[in-house]
Amino acid sequence: MSSFLDKHKILETNATLLLVCSLLVVTIGGIVEIAPLFYLQNTIEKVEGMRPYSPLELAGRDIYVREGCYVCHSQMIRPFRDEVERYGPYSLAAESMYDHPFQWGSKRTGPDLARVGARYSNEWHVQHLIEPRSVVPESIMPSYSFLLDKELEIRDIEGHLKTNRIVGVPYTDEMLENAYADLIAQANPDADTAGVEERYPKAVIADFDGDPGRLTEMDALIAYLQMLGTLVDFSTYDPTSGYR
Ligand code: HEC
Repeated sequence: MSSFLDKHKILETNATLLLVCSLLVVTIGGIVEIAPLFYLQNTIEKVEGMRPYSPLELAGRDIYVREGCYVCHSQMIRPFRDEVERYGPYSLAAESMYDHPFQWGSKRTGPDLARVGARYSNEWHVQHLIEPRSVVPESIMPSYSFLLDKELEIRDIEGHLKTNRIVGVPYTDEMLENAYADLIAQANPDADTAGVEERYPKAVIADFDGDPGRLTEMDALIAYLQMLGTLVDFSTYDPTSGYR
């Protein structure tokens, strides 16, 4: 024991040696943490149903980020009984694989939104975003009524998809070429929506904000919310043994 202390004393009394050894230890620790990230593609289990966001959902997601919804809402259901009973099947890594950046959040002032899609009608969302207390009297969520007055900016939607492709989202050339048309069509059930349905299975097609004449930020945000948690088929989910 004393010989170990003696040896350690050499280290403690030699600043250069201590520095070199410290760097060595930090390097090993760093490699152990960082190296697996380069193989992340292999560690995310592929899950049936996940697809890149439709142009309208992507635009809505931008508004979600811009307005800081993630400050009060998480999108990450943990595998604990209380969470699963309240929100539904726990989140899978694959469900955020096309998120840049991801929207897991770190605080729940409001409820988790990972499975909020299809839980409420579009009309409910419009009403709730205009004045949360008109549908949930005890709500402390702020009003976002201005989203109804703001036309959605869509000039650069193709470039937006392209940028996502650069960071790994598998948008095809066909998706890029049709980005603008698909965005418009998803918010207009009277249009030819076959392309959107084919390229983005399960995308909700509707005049979300109830005003067919205009394409607003409200349309985009609700299109995004209605998609959350609906892409993966959880009917194969068994709460006791996990998935499949
Ligand atoms: C200051 C915190 C806060 C912010 C910011 C916030 N919310 Fe909320 N949100 C809440 C609270 C609290 C509730 C629960 C009461 C209610 O339903 O209004 C809630 C509820 C919700 C619900 C209903 C969820 C459910 O399962 O019933 C949705 C959807 C929602 N918020 C969307 C949003 C969106 C979209 C944004 C950004 C535009 C946003 N929230 C911003 C606090 C917040």
